[in-house]
Amino acid sequence: MSRTLVICKPDAVERRLAGEILRRLEVKGLRLVAAELRTIDVPTARHHYAEHEGKPFFADLVAFITGGPSLLVVAEGPGDDTWKVVRTLIGPTDPAGAPPGTIRGDLGLEVTENLVHGSDSRESAQREIELFFPALS
Ligand code: RTP
Ligand code: MG
Repeated sequence: MSRTLVICKPDAVERRLAGEILRRLEVKGLRLVAAELRTIDVPTARHHYAEHEGKPFFADLVAFITGGPSLLVVAEGPGDDTWKVVRTLIGPTDPAGAPPGTIRGDLGLEVTENLVHGSDSRESAQREIELFFPALS
């Protein structure tokens, strides 16, 4: 069994798509371990996206992710790579080119408002769960 962090970003919550995203995780067979509606603060967002610090879109990314409530979720599945299962469900970063059937492919159009975050490795999943749900780790 392994766990990963999923964030239904502020655009998803605003567009009433958080339920649809959770539904897709659940029908896949993943188990919800934690879920909380929370507005991410700026220091936490900067920490979460630290790998992108210095890139041209960093300031906009932090402003966007802190701009309204997100639904923070920890999902669990069998096997070592639940993060990968979730990334496959989410689809590529730019929704405009994401395949139909993926969350971004079905529900989004813009890279800046791509609805959902999923941890991108086993190590990221562990670090991000610790950052957002310290009581779980
Ligand atoms: P995320 O971390 O949010 O799950 O997305 P990701 O792994 O698919 O993509 P990543 O490369 O980690 O980028 C993080 C977020 O930055 C925004 N972005 N904007 N304007 C741009 O060219 C650009 N490139 C990336 C996206 O919102 C992406 O989700
Ligand atoms: Mg990423």
